[in-house]
Amino acid sequence: MKRIYLIGFMGSGKSTVGLYLQHTFAQTFIDTDQYIEQTRQKEISQIFADEGEDQFRQYEIQALQSLLDFDVIATGGGIVERKENYKTMHSNGVIIYLQTSFSEIMSRLKYDSSRPLWDQQITEREKLYERRHTMYKNIADHIIHTDGLHVEEIGKEIMGIMKQE
Ligand code: S3P
Repeated sequence: MKRIYLIGFMGSGKSTVGLYLQHTFAQTFIDTDQYIEQTRQKEISQIFADEGEDQFRQYEIQALQSLLDFDVIATGGGIVERKENYKTMHSNGVIIYLQTSFSEIMSRLKYDSSRPLWDQQITEREKLYERRHTMYKNIADHIIHTDGLHVEEIGKEIMGIMKQE
C-alpha cells in the first residue's frame, strides 16, 4: 500500500486517525509534531516562543523529508504553509484531507491553549481556517468529511480509498 499523508486543520483528528490505523491495520505511524518535539527536545509552543514560527516551519520541512519509513504520517495543520512540503507529499504518497467544520473544531479545541496559532481571537481563527481549507482542498488527493463520523468509520473509509490507489 502507498504511504498516507493525513492533512487538515488543528483538531481535525489526524493523530487519532493515524493511531487507529496503526492499531487496527498494523500500519507504522508517526506524527510530525511529535517527531519535532522529540528531536528538538522541546514542546511545539516553546519552539514558537523561543525560535519563532519560521524556524518551526523549517523543522517541519526537514521532518517530512526524513519520515519516509512510515506507512501513515499525521502532519501539523500548517504543513501547507510551505511549498516544499507539497512536493515531498505528492512524490511519496497519497494525501488525505480530513475536513472538519469550523464549529466542530471550535467545540473540540474549546479549552486548548497548547497550540500557538489557535490561541487568538475567534475572527482570526476563522480567517486561518478559511485560508487553510482552500489550501488543503487544492493539494488533497482525497477528502473525507469527518463531522459526525467515529474514528473507526474514518479509518475504514481511508482503507477503502487506499485499495483503489
Ligand atoms: C499548527 C498546527 C499544530 C502544530 C503547530 C502549528 C498550525 O499541529 O504543528 O501548533 O500551523 O496549524 P496540529 O494540526 O496537530 O494541531
